[in-house]
Amino acid sequence: MEKWITIQEIEQYPEVDEKQQEEAMAQCVDQVKQNLPAFETHFPAANSENNFYTPGINTDWTSGFWTGEVWLAYENAENEEDRRLFKEAGDKQVSSFLERINIKHYVDHHDLGFLYTPSCVSAYKLTGSQEAREAALKAADQLMTRYRPTGKYIQAWGEMDTPENHRLIIDCLLNIPLLYWATEITGESRYKEVAENHIHTTMKYIVREDDSTWHTIMFDPETDRFSHGATCQGYKDSSAWARGQTWGIYGTAIAYKNTGRAEYLDYFRRVSGYFLKHLPKDLCPFWDLGFGDGDEAEQPRDSSSGAIAACGFLEMSKYLPKEEAQYYQALARKLAFALIKNYQVKDFSVSNGQLLHGTYAKKTPYNTCANSGVDECVIWGDYFFMEMLTRLIKPDWNMYW
Ligand code: GLY
Repeated sequence: MEKWITIQEIEQYPEVDEKQQEEAMAQCVDQVKQNLPAFETHFPAANSENNFYTPGINTDWTSGFWTGEVWLAYENAENEEDRRLFKEAGDKQVSSFLERINIKHYVDHHDLGFLYTPSCVSAYKLTGSQEAREAALKAADQLMTRYRPTGKYIQAWGEMDTPENHRLIIDCLLNIPLLYWATEITGESRYKEVAENHIHTTMKYIVREDDSTWHTIMFDPETDRFSHGATCQGYKDSSAWARGQTWGIYGTAIAYKNTGRAEYLDYFRRVSGYFLKHLPKDLCPFWDLGFGDGDEAEQPRDSSSGAIAACGFLEMSKYLPKEEAQYYQALARKLAFALIKNYQVKDFSVSNGQLLHGTYAKKTPYNTCANSGVDECVIWGDYFFMEMLTRLIKPDWNMYW
């Protein structure tokens, strides 16, 4: 059996239609509504346990995705009463994010964009909330403290002065839009300059010759010059961690939007092509793209990667020539069809998440992460599934990123 289907085969797959995407979104909005009593001022953990999230405090790098779901529910709600409920919850959560950045609670990492873009930039764009504006600008300032000017990149994790921490990771491409937004709001170019330097350094090293991507890039602690690529959450250093590849797809689309640099179009095509050539027949990627059909018994999927890729395809289609744009839009509709049909939660009694079969991190003898959220809902998978549907329903959606 072939592990992966061909692009010609993908082209024959069904696409989501308007009715299906609207029904899927109505289900998502209902899931958010049913979650509100437990998660109005509490936040779901990064991943579910047996498909159910438990409430906790605003502490992890992932808390912003739930608030992002609340704002997407606000935008897609069917009536004014529901909109009011979602806004009330969203506003309370924004206050929690302002408090978090004021007291600097677990913000010594690069994930400030993942935290503050779907929660607070969104709130500011949708409601003009000054509290959200203040929180997101403070988060952008905090992200600036992670910049290493010698190597021209934002350091992902850990204390800034420790040699083993000289590292950037592909995921950070989604943290960068917060800096562009800060320049737009304040008129100060320093945020944008750091953003552009970081994107450029990332692009220089992250895409490999075969169009797969490194998860992380290590720099020499003395010189901050490129040292080597390494994985944390992929199967092994040289394999292609599925979510990393899709952070690459969406990240290059946003990088192109913000920089207009023609070479990023090419990176987008390359990383997208690699992803598409490593899909199993139900179109939902395994957690590492080295796995495919026949590996089901031992290897879980990462459904979140499918949703992230679809968002990237839809974003980039805004900037591509018509025929190519239609090609990526059709791919996004095929991914959406597959996710809705086989992975969307259709009943609150099955799960309080949105998308089943995500994988946060799977331990192997060759990577450095611990097992967590294997074959579970993951909160960013839920968020990007809703973002994908929003993009399909409203092609001119004003993106949060
Ligand atoms: N940014 C961490 C992850 O995608 O798991």
